Amino acid sequence: MYLNEMLESIRKVEAKRAENAVLEPRRMTAEEKETLLATYHPDYKQEEFAVLTVGPNKGDKVPTELAALLQANSRVKPEEIDLSKVDYDVDVLVIGGGGAGSSAAIEAHQNGAKVMIVTKLRIGDANTMMAEGGIQAADKPNDSPAIHYLDAFGGGHFAAKPELLYRLVSEAPDAIKWLSELGVEFDKMPDGTMVTTHGGGTSRKRMHAAKDYSGAEIMRTLRDEVLNREIPVVDFTAAIELILDENGRAAGAVLLNMETKEILVARAKTVVIATGGAGRLHYQGFPTSNHYGATADGLVLGYRAGAKLLYADTLQYHPTGAAYPEQIFGALVTEKVRSLGAKLINCDGEAFMHPLETRDVSAASIIRECSTHGKGVKTPDGIGVWLDTPMIELKNGEGTIEKRIPAMMRMFGKYGIDIRKEPILVYPTLHYQNGGLDIGPDCMTTCVENLFVAGEAVGGIHGRNRLMGNSLLDIIVFGRDAGKSASARAKDVTVGALTLDHVTKFASEMKDAGIETDVVSPKLLPNYTRKV
Ligand code: FUM
Repeated sequence: MYLNEMLESIRKVEAKRAENAVLEPRRMTAEEKETLLATYHPDYKQEEFAVLTVGPNKGDKVPTELAALLQANSRVKPEEIDLSKVDYDVDVLVIGGGGAGSSAAIEAHQNGAKVMIVTKLRIGDANTMMAEGGIQAADKPNDSPAIHYLDAFGGGHFAAKPELLYRLVSEAPDAIKWLSELGVEFDKMPDGTMVTTHGGGTSRKRMHAAKDYSGAEIMRTLRDEVLNREIPVVDFTAAIELILDENGRAAGAVLLNMETKEILVARAKTVVIATGGAGRLHYQGFPTSNHYGATADGLVLGYRAGAKLLYADTLQYHPTGAAYPEQIFGALVTEKVRSLGAKLINCDGEAFMHPLETRDVSAASIIRECSTHGKGVKTPDGIGVWLDTPMIELKNGEGTIEKRIPAMMRMFGKYGIDIRKEPILVYPTLHYQNGGLDIGPDCMTTCVENLFVAGEAVGGIHGRNRLMGNSLLDIIVFGRDAGKSASARAKDVTVGALTLDHVTKFASEMKDAGIETDVVSPKLLPNYTRKV
């Protein structure tokens, strides 16, 4: 239900809808994009970043909120942990129960390893579950992994690690096949061919989807597979510190039972970090589309153990977070809405940009429209621009919305907004961590042996911006690869004496650098308590 002042603007949107629906706003030039990003994208606000003074990335800048967690106190006092009392002893320890962790565990299990998942909430409580629009794979005759590579490399500002991006795109068709065989119900034509759509920055229609709850469908299937294989899942148990062995190789983790607060020790021949993203750190005060547990834990664990970060200074603000009503503030409005034909419209009913520019460019363009251009629509809590959803049915016919984006229809319908008839208000929301731990092609970190990483905790797969649908893809490709590599390597590992010396050393480096802080990390859960 919209407020009166919004209804006035909606009338202008309606008046120009037919004209805007056929209008093809031009794409920005490379120079225009560069200027736009430098002026309006949050990644370019230098005052929001801090330079690290300890650890493997000493001298690099990262968001202030992340710096506070990377250079914080451990949750454990090493001298109080009895590492001779091992509660779990496995070949492969997977930290994180989302899509990447589950894929890693399935492949490690397939490879004969004794594998265990620990997760601070429950298996499936992860960003994977919240992914909507789809998963990219070049598996149609007019497409190829090479074209997929070019789209993603350009979209990521030519900064992706080539060997990682190569893996991502070349293993994508097999990822779709694997998921289909496990039971994912992708959208199909009556003849059985996959329905595919465009996303921002794609030159071919290669987005495979399960309506607009693709992540939930994928996670459902992966979770079933983990449970069917009887892979042990220790839930409500967070990894709070990595354990190394005397040779400096990853060899397990200190665990915290989130309910009883009991401390446990897991020893492992190899460890896979699959802890996901960081939206719940609310960088620069942005709302987030992320899962409740997205607090950058894996980056903190890895960093303290000596693993290097790559591109930790770059975040993705999804252009279309819900800006109204306040109950769904920041929730994801899938890019698929624009793929299906909805355009971004300002308060005067003008289509102000091409709807499928890459995400960083789209987000910056919306921020400019609402700030310098003064063409946003005010809400009681902020501002937004219209995403003119009724255009979808103008273009594709009645019934398209219910068929292709039913979750969007339901999300807004709960608040009396019928997206088939009325536009919705959107504004950028913190969506994805482009940076993370630096890995080689086998998914092992470049600095800590036997420590593997998969999913959103990896840095460098996408460069400095990610295209839609390449995240669901990377959790599968790199999840599977990490599981295969970690289990293969575990076959040759003899774990030495366990140690937490790195924790003590990091604390003394902080002291030497003059860092005094009462922050404790990993954060584990966000704190939404109001200050009084
Ligand atoms: O817009 C979306 O559905 C999000 C997809 C993604 O982040 O890949």
